[in-house]
Amino acid sequence: FELKFPENEPVKGYMPGSPERAAIKAELERQLANPVEVPIIIGGKEIRTGNKAPMICPHDHQKVLGEYHVAGEKELLLAIEAAEAAREEWENMPWEHRATIFLKAADLLTGKYRAKVAASCMLGQSKNPFQAEIDAICELADFLRFNTYYAQEIYKQQPMNTPGVWNRVEYRALDGFVAAITPFNFTSIGGNLSTAPTIVGNTVLWKPSSTAVLSNYYFMQILMEAGLPAGVINFVPCRGTDFGRVVVSHPKMAGFHFTGSTAVFNGIWNQVGSNIAKYVSYPRLVGETGGKDFIFAHESADIEALTCAMVLGAYEYQGQKCSAASRAYIPESLWSQLKGRLEEEIGKIKMGDVRDFTNLMNAVIDRSSFLNIKNYLDYARESQDAEIIFGGGCDDSVGYFVEPTVILAKTPNFKTMVEEIFGPVMTVYVYPNDKLEETLKACDTATIYGLTGAVFAQDRAAVIKIAKALDHAAGNFYINDKPTGAVVGQQPFGGSRASGTNDKAGSAINLYRWISQRAIKEAM
Ligand code: NAD
Ligand code: ALA
Repeated sequence: FELKFPENEPVKGYMPGSPERAAIKAELERQLANPVEVPIIIGGKEIRTGNKAPMICPHDHQKVLGEYHVAGEKELLLAIEAAEAAREEWENMPWEHRATIFLKAADLLTGKYRAKVAASCMLGQSKNPFQAEIDAICELADFLRFNTYYAQEIYKQQPMNTPGVWNRVEYRALDGFVAAITPFNFTSIGGNLSTAPTIVGNTVLWKPSSTAVLSNYYFMQILMEAGLPAGVINFVPCRGTDFGRVVVSHPKMAGFHFTGSTAVFNGIWNQVGSNIAKYVSYPRLVGETGGKDFIFAHESADIEALTCAMVLGAYEYQGQKCSAASRAYIPESLWSQLKGRLEEEIGKIKMGDVRDFTNLMNAVIDRSSFLNIKNYLDYARESQDAEIIFGGGCDDSVGYFVEPTVILAKTPNFKTMVEEIFGPVMTVYVYPNDKLEETLKACDTATIYGLTGAVFAQDRAAVIKIAKALDHAAGNFYINDKPTGAVVGQQPFGGSRASGTNDKAGSAINLYRWISQRAIKEAM
């Protein structure tokens, strides 16, 4: 059993007349016509509490995809018991057997269940088919295949021996369960955060986002069909505060795998700190959190490449990627031409129902997100320090729609240039060409985040200078490309500062966080 370096799952195009397009169209209608009831899954068993919450289509909030059962304290305690009960056998299972399960899950996801999972992601999380494909299918399959490969490579590494001494390292799982809390915006992140610790022998409690339950549940079903033993991953949709109170403060929580907002991760970190004496082991805390991702253009930038990056970087998936371009620094010598090109390209963007494949944009995730974005737009509209130059409209009469928007800010510290909005809103600051250094400093220090960023310049010396000036401003840094769309195995993903612990998703660094080594010396 020797795995080769994997290949990325090829992205399907959903072109007119293609079989994948026919399959997903049929699946979208099937899911809309057949609401489902999603159970909690603990120890391999389905549990129904009767305390149910609806799963709503963001592009049409009158359409309901079904309901899910909400776990409470009783179920969360049961899930901890199940994870603890499954731990020893899972950890001691031959590595090849564990690996086979995840590889089979990747094949089921990309084969038999491709249309089902992609359609649930489109309807439940409001993605167009391309966005659902690159997330819920390709990236998730890549996480499974690459993490399995990286685990194999980790297990091969052993220390050196010296005369009369035999040294070895055991790659054990953590001494307790791992808690995974996952966001709405990527089905792949839910799948990765729940499986990465299990690939190296841990058991997990997985709390999906309340607005991504359906696609996450379908993935959980795939894992079970692939042979995941009962109790290894326990699927517990619930209120975040209940999960925090019951699970995060439990003495046997040995690891915490999180992706979501900085505020929630900070709260968890504080909670862990205040319970620190209770834990059997210091919990490993891994969090990928918020971002305020930048595009920094130099006067030598190619305007066409820059326009394309700004439009796709800011508006694909309605700006709800943690990596989305949400602030841009543009030299004044480029602005007039760039503004014209942005107006043309933004004018071509279509927005609406996910079933109309000509829509680049769909709805934002829910009412609370819609209102939050609207508040930022109202703030900009009323401010003397900014102007909404394109878009700015919001309409929640049918679904939660926000137009692709550009705000022009007079200062690099304007509120929408600094705070994460998580919607299709890009703020532009136009800087005098002779103020490059000052503007780089503003870009580096304006926000608390350090997730993604891009530089646009054809002058190589400028690229090097800007990359150096912004060396900690982005964990994923792009040169002449948009700051979104990292690919597993190519650009390991994660940021630092208030954007997270930078334990790169889809990399060996991440897997090491779920391993507790025992180093053994034997005198011969
Ligand atoms: P969120 O923080 O609102 O929710 C994330 C998860 O935490 C959800 O499952 C939610 O139910 C849960 N939660 C909420 N309050 C909680 C509490 N008090 N205790 C325990 N759990 C709680 O984030 P979201 O809206 O789902 O996702 C958007 C955020 O995620 C953005 O800030 C985005 O930048 C970030 N994100 C970061 C990355 C990254 O790799 N850095 C990737 C995706 C998303
Ligand atoms: N991995 C996702 C991206 O790079 C978040 O856009």
